[in-house]
Amino acid sequence: MNIVSTVKEVREQVKEWRAQGLSVGLVPTMGYLHEGHKSLIDKAVEQNDRVVVSVFVNPIQFGPTEDLATYPRDLDRDAALCESAGADLIFHPENEEMYFEDFCTYVDMEHLTKGLCGKTRPTHFRGVCTVVSKLFHIVQPDRAYFGQKDAQQLAVVRRMVRDLNFDLEIVGCPIVREEDGLAKSSRNTYLSEEERKAAVVLSRSLAKGKELIESGELDAETIKKAIREVIDAEPLAKIDYVEVVNFDTIEAIDTLDGIVLTAIAVYIGKTRLIDNFIMTIQS
Ligand code: PAF
Repeated sequence: MNIVSTVKEVREQVKEWRAQGLSVGLVPTMGYLHEGHKSLIDKAVEQNDRVVVSVFVNPIQFGPTEDLATYPRDLDRDAALCESAGADLIFHPENEEMYFEDFCTYVDMEHLTKGLCGKTRPTHFRGVCTVVSKLFHIVQPDRAYFGQKDAQQLAVVRRMVRDLNFDLEIVGCPIVREEDGLAKSSRNTYLSEEERKAAVVLSRSLAKGKELIESGELDAETIKKAIREVIDAEPLAKIDYVEVVNFDTIEAIDTLDGIVLTAIAVYIGKTRLIDNFIMTIQS
């Protein structure tokens, strides 16, 4: 497995693979890889002849008061995980390689990016859409892999690919969880021991919501209230949002119907964590 840092090197490698008729999968990441990322790489290895993993902490998707400076980084560890999972190339560019000093072209999406995480992170999805577009242009993969943990990001990237006619398939992969139910995330490393225990409230509250839906409850307000009650009972937790939306449009719904995303963002101490589940409701 090779690690390269320039667009030119990626293009040369991919061109060589293409000349041999090989298919290419891309797993975009910000590094500090865990089992969740590994599941994306595993899927990519299963479905493609060659796999590129990008490791780039994208500065333009962080707000001014967010954790860009402290975001965890460990390229050696990431490389070991990629190698053992069977990836073929890591693209690890410097900021200057991705963004010229006078960079001024962005991909901005309306509607889907305004709710959920977009409410408190108004420039986040512009940063995601821009960097993901750049990665798609640089690697030109047949398929790209995104985790369902960032469900809004998955919906946004799918819509961008459709709207801008990118010629690739977006593959969504299930959430990978710790044994106690906490969704795997690079940001879990910020949690103290006490906070780590409290963080299980996210998956526990969603389990309550899921249980209600499975018992026939279709009123979004009732489901949100039940989820909120579980979270509010945890002293270290502070709700950012609890929402029930249509998964394609990310618009709030009153009555559950079709593909429904129940998503939450919760502060555990200073760390903001997200989690969700998706269910298809046949009316
Ligand atoms: O999900 C992430 O890690 C990032 O948002 C992504 C897709 C790699 C873009 O920087």
